[in-house]
Amino acid sequence: MKEPRNILITGASSGLGAALALSYAHSGVTLFLSGRNAERLEKVASDCRGRGAKVERAVVNVVDEDTMATWIEAADTSRPLDLVIANAGISAGSHKGEEETCDQIRAVFATNVDGVLNTILPILPRMRERKRGQIAIMSSLAGFRGFAESPAYCASKAAERVLGEGMRLRLKPHGVQVSVICPGFVKTPMTERNNFTMPFLMNPERAAQVIKLGLALDKGRISFPMPLAFVVWLLSFLPVGLSDVLLGIRKR
Ligand SMILES: NC(=O)c1ccc[n+]([C@@H]2O[C@H](COP(=O)([O-])OP(=O)(O)OC[C@H]3O[C@@H](n4cnc5c(N)ncnc54)[C@H](OP(=O)(O)O)[C@@H]3O)[C@@H](O)[C@H]2O)c1
Repeated sequence: MKEPRNILITGASSGLGAALALSYAHSGVTLFLSGRNAERLEKVASDCRGRGAKVERAVVNVVDEDTMATWIEAADTSRPLDLVIANAGISAGSHKGEEETCDQIRAVFATNVDGVLNTILPILPRMRERKRGQIAIMSSLAGFRGFAESPAYCASKAAERVLGEGMRLRLKPHGVQVSVICPGFVKTPMTERNNFTMPFLMNPERAAQVIKLGLALDKGRISFPMPLAFVVWLLSFLPVGLSDVLLGIRKR
């Protein structure tokens, strides 16, 4: 959607969510921003206000279905939402070579999968009814193939991607746009912990620009950077035996 005016972003207290909030912040725009860390969220909100946007912020955990529904419905009632970005997410286990623990695996699914559902389900009936609106789901290039560093994270991002692709087709006749965002490596607190080489690492401001343009063009899948997107796309098509060997060589 071109020039959305009422925008809700989860996970706006840090990284990509904060960069997206700032990139949309200007006069005439109302931002509904959430995160769990009140102090960091207020800093982002204050920076967005400094750019002329009106900002409402909410300290809410995306895993809490009822609180999320109450927040999103209240936001939409006060200003009908043009764009909802389900961005909040976590990863686990990719630092210091540790494996994802059972608790981390469950937390990754709860935040990344249930959290996205808790963000988009309350708004869908409203957007359908007014035949207008856009939903953006923050997946990842990691959602095209399971990687040894973070199997649960990859699986959660695959679920988000496939959910969004199906919903895009289902909702198109109802006037609701759905886009799936698949970034490669972006320099945020999440990737700071990674102990492996991150090819084509980009800054969050540049990533936010790419995402904003893709959403304005109603792209179904916003994958970037292109070379890395091509590699994961290729890996997902290769026979598993062959991609296992290639990924094994990378780890040596
Ligand atoms: N960075 C990358 O390379 C990369 C690549 C592809 C996709 N992504 C995706 O981009 C999204 C943002 O990641 P990021 O890199 O910007 O990481 P980040 O800097 O760690 O930011 C994550 C954001 O999600 C919020 N969040 C996490 N768990 C939450 C919960 N249970 N309830 C509410 N908010 C929660 C955090 O809020 P608090 O800090 O306030 O808790 C924070 O605002 C994630 O979905 C991630 O999977 C990132």
